[in-house]
Amino acid sequence: MYTLTYFDEFGDQCTANFHTNEYHSLMELLYDKYMEEWGECKGRAWCGTCHIKILEGAIDKEMEEEEQHTLSKIDEATKESRLACQIPVNAALNNLVFKIVSENQYD
Ligand code: FES
Repeated sequence: MYTLTYFDEFGDQCTANFHTNEYHSLMELLYDKYMEEWGECKGRAWCGTCHIKILEGAIDKEMEEEEQHTLSKIDEATKESRLACQIPVNAALNNLVFKIVSENQYD
């Protein structure tokens, strides 16, 4: 069992527990267990509603073109930004700390 920490849309610190490959992506893990109303495009990297910013740790998966493209349209995106739907659930996420940036959606 691994653990990660995130700050939700209200700034509250939360903890999520997971096993490797328990979910297809970080977005699905949080959506299923901890959050409501998240991931509008259901993980296709199109909507930007699963925007997160990494605070501690790193994601070892490189960004693919679709993720880069969607983040490039979000004004508030920084180099710490990722789309949670594009991040695999594995041991590399253990002890990761990030925040959810829920207001950053675009049509
Ligand atoms: S769920 Fe839409 S970009 Fe991640």
